[in-house]
Amino acid sequence: MASYRALCRLHLRGQGSFMTCVQKAHICVSRSVGTKVVATQAEDSGKDEREEKAGPKSLSAFLVERQEQAERSVLISCHPKTSEKKFLKYLSRHGDIKKHFFYDSYGTYAVVEFSTQDGVRSLLDAAVIPSVSHESAVPFKSRLLSLRTTGAVNQSDQQPGLQCRPQSTVPISELIQTLARQETVDQQIMCLTQAYQLTEENSRLRFLVCSLLKDIAAAYFPECTVKPFGSSVNGFGKLGCDLDMFLDLDDISGRDVQTPKSSLSVEYQMKRATSERAVTQSILSVIGECVDQFGPGCVGVQKILNARCPLVRFSHQPSGFQCDLTVNNRVALKSTELLYLYGLLDRRVRLLVFSVRCWARAHSLTSSIPGAWVTNFSLTVMVLFFLQRRSPPIIPPLDHLRQLAGPADRSVIEGNDCTFVSDFSKIQLQTNTETLEQLLNDFFEFYSTFPFGKMSINIRKGKEQNKPEVAPLHIQNPFETSLNVSKNVNSSQLERFVALCRESAWLLQQRDAPPGRGRRRDPPGLGTGHPAAAVPGGRSQKSKEKEKGTGHANASRVY
Ligand code: GTP
Ligand code: MG
Repeated sequence: MASYRALCRLHLRGQGSFMTCVQKAHICVSRSVGTKVVATQAEDSGKDEREEKAGPKSLSAFLVERQEQAERSVLISCHPKTSEKKFLKYLSRHGDIKKHFFYDSYGTYAVVEFSTQDGVRSLLDAAVIPSVSHESAVPFKSRLLSLRTTGAVNQSDQQPGLQCRPQSTVPISELIQTLARQETVDQQIMCLTQAYQLTEENSRLRFLVCSLLKDIAAAYFPECTVKPFGSSVNGFGKLGCDLDMFLDLDDISGRDVQTPKSSLSVEYQMKRATSERAVTQSILSVIGECVDQFGPGCVGVQKILNARCPLVRFSHQPSGFQCDLTVNNRVALKSTELLYLYGLLDRRVRLLVFSVRCWARAHSLTSSIPGAWVTNFSLTVMVLFFLQRRSPPIIPPLDHLRQLAGPADRSVIEGNDCTFVSDFSKIQLQTNTETLEQLLNDFFEFYSTFPFGKMSINIRKGKEQNKPEVAPLHIQNPFETSLNVSKNVNSSQLERFVALCRESAWLLQQRDAPPGRGRRRDPPGLGTGHPAAAVPGGRSQKSKEKEKGTGHANASRVY
């Protein structure tokens, strides 16, 4: 702890330390797809206005729309010097193109969305089998194609590269300059979110990868769909986040079957297994094998079948996404839907979650590697809980959303009640006008004094509850209520979290201190206020009092 404090003090040296801190944050997003976009944006701006009038779209409507677009899309590897005009002219022979964009990820790729599926079919009919001289190719045809150029349309070095607008995360130096220009922490938070959030194109690419995966799984399960969940769709995703998806076999699972009215009927004979988990494992084992052996662009396939939630993990090289494929993960989709809904209820929810996720990543409180650290999902639930505890609350508890649910919202999954309202207009929010800066500061204060030793975080009730088990951090799973979503977190990780909250609150408060009483002279927010830069570095009088026992429990005392 002493060496940790020493390290914290080093961070206080000002802008240099801020740079280091944000650079860390930058590293964590740098594996994002460097998407370059040339898209027909005009139609989208009109669409935004229409959507604003219609109110927010439900997650299921959003999923349907994006899935449908993905089904009409192809992914084409092409030379960076390809003539865009010729490329589009060639593709247009197969059908109208609704949207297209280019991006870089281990080469240049184009996502092309046709107006109808006929366009895709025509293009695939025209595609030729690659002539392989040395290796043999697996004869599996997919919508991942390569553009071949010969003779007249040969690329020339003279030709300018594809007219692309880079859409990867902004370079760190640029981000710092942009943040420094902002007058307030609120503006910095908005800038940070703007820079790191998933772009429309990145979102489309995620759905396209799911759709390509579905084509592989459909060899066994023609009625299946592959749906993204988690941060790819819940509104809290950062460029470079993993792609969580699940194979949805609901239509053929035997659930919700209707008893036929006629006296005679036939039913499918299906192989029996010992448990639903065993079925999931065998499906994932086979699909994982197919992805490994036949999936174009899918590399590093690992079958992790003994996990609580069995999965197949792999890298999809053409998109650059790290993918986790599960089966029938309906509870996770419900949590995604809940987070999505909360994120749309008040704009501060998304901005605060985003800032806290970035802050946590910059301080290595979270990691893409599984371990004893807090996950982004747990962090998000912590932010939601904090917002439920405001006075007046910014968002309602899950139990309240359950009370507002109509019959169509009723959902019981594996015995867990996952019912909550889906109609946004039924949710009445109380008036709370707190600024993001105040919320961020109070978030850090709230968790630096939270009685983790005794209490559990419970977004269903919107109130802390007595801890039902001895885990250092207890966050009740909103739907599988007997589970703790932060069971993996050990005491030293929680201690780090609490210490960083305390120090970050202190740093933010320095901005408000009157001049001459220790107030720092940095530009507004820089190095102090910026969420990813709210580095540990000193202890306020308040914090010290807490440590002496005059305030709430401190990090080392909590446990
Ligand atoms: P990042 O991938 O870190 O950006 O965030 P994420 O929200 O996608 O988290 P993650 O990939 O770890 O998990 C994907 C989704 O699975 C989450 O959004 C949740 O819906 C669900 N999930 C994750 N962890 C848990 C857990 O411990 N319990 C339950 N029930 N669901 C979880
Ligand atoms: Mg994820």
